[in-house]
Amino acid sequence: MLRYLTAGESHGQGLIGILDGYPAGIKISTDNIDTDLARRQVGYGRGGRMLIEKDKAEILSGVRWGRSLGSPICLHIKNKDWLNWEKAMSISSKYEDSVTPVTKPRPGHADLSGLIKYGHNDLRNILERASARETAIRVAIGAVCKLLLKEFSIEIVSHVTKIGGICINRTRLKLDDIRKKAEASLLRCADKDAEKKMIKRIDSAKKNGDSLGGIFEVIVTNPPIGLGSHTQWDRKINARLSMAIMSIQAIKGIEIGLGFDVARLFGSDVHDEIFYDKENKRFYRKTNNAGGIEGGMTNGEEIIIRAAMKPIPTLMKPLSSVDIKTKKPFKASVERSDVCAVPAAAVVGEAVAAFEIANAMIEKYGGDSLSEMKRNYNGYMKYVRGV
Ligand SMILES: Cc1cc2nc3c(=O)[nH]c(=O)nc-3n(C[C@H](O)[C@H](O)[C@H](O)COP(=O)(O)O)c2cc1C
Repeated sequence: MLRYLTAGESHGQGLIGILDGYPAGIKISTDNIDTDLARRQVGYGRGGRMLIEKDKAEILSGVRWGRSLGSPICLHIKNKDWLNWEKAMSISSKYEDSVTPVTKPRPGHADLSGLIKYGHNDLRNILERASARETAIRVAIGAVCKLLLKEFSIEIVSHVTKIGGICINRTRLKLDDIRKKAEASLLRCADKDAEKKMIKRIDSAKKNGDSLGGIFEVIVTNPPIGLGSHTQWDRKINARLSMAIMSIQAIKGIEIGLGFDVARLFGSDVHDEIFYDKENKRFYRKTNNAGGIEGGMTNGEEIIIRAAMKPIPTLMKPLSSVDIKTKKPFKASVERSDVCAVPAAAVVGEAVAAFEIANAMIEKYGGDSLSEMKRNYNGYMKYVRGV
């Protein structure tokens, strides 16, 4: 079983991730990880923090001479901003009370519920960990998982399909377009016309001190048939992917394939008919409304996931709240925040999906070493072609 944990506060010294159960023998370098970290940091509408941080990962364990050992992989990302927070976020009690506690909870954030739940009197003790800064280390973990998937020609692609009500024109886009155009876009948007409108919408949100959410799509290419299982609720690959995607800060909805649209259509419009290609000895579909998953298992078609992100909760435009100390209402503006972070969330979506698919691959093909996995995978693929 592949598993991971992360640790670290937004303005603490750094972020740590431990990835356990990763097979031996996979080529790993920080270059791939840093590329994904940089992809998470770009995006029109990001705030000032991203100008301070230029994330780089360090591998502290689990890799020797460029290949995974099979032991836990420990990853570290330094917070450059820590230099400005050494006293406020000090481990030592020496600096206690050196900064004023945060007492004004933001609507839409973890602030108030977390403070009450954990019995704190400073909202900073909650917001530091609730912050999406944590997603940087998840992107690093996802990048390592992508290296495993690459060995099996599985690729994870993401793009933004909607921001603040402006939608891409889907019909014009093929996977290759999405791959190239989204990567070149400031908004990870493969449709230039829609991108222009999205940028205008973000500008107007910013001008009004407001924020915007949107939708991104993650596509997993070339999955083998049979990842996940119909036999138990927590083995279903759609359930596992959903939990992973919904665990990303600010994600409020997920769809697989046609998603919510299935509820308004006839069965004959929804279900993907089955065909057989005699030449290549494979079953296939002409449509992929199921988004590559039926009965909790991959069916061999691309996995298609969409996630809805709510607008960023930290607003320049004052929203009503109550000071936890004085109990007086206030309307305050807060500085330095993203206006829209859907493109960044898409890269986080890739990462958490990569982890879940890597985990399912290890579960299916046995996972102590890459060569063992490949033996099992090749044997299974031979069997599938003979069905
Ligand atoms: C990539 C990314 C960047 C984010 N940036 C911010 C930000 O700058 N300011 C903010 O208030 N929330 C930001 N958020 C959202 C909050 O972290 C999130 O809304 C908050 O932790 C509350 O959790 P919930 O929305 O899941 O309920 C961001 C989320 C993601 C995925």
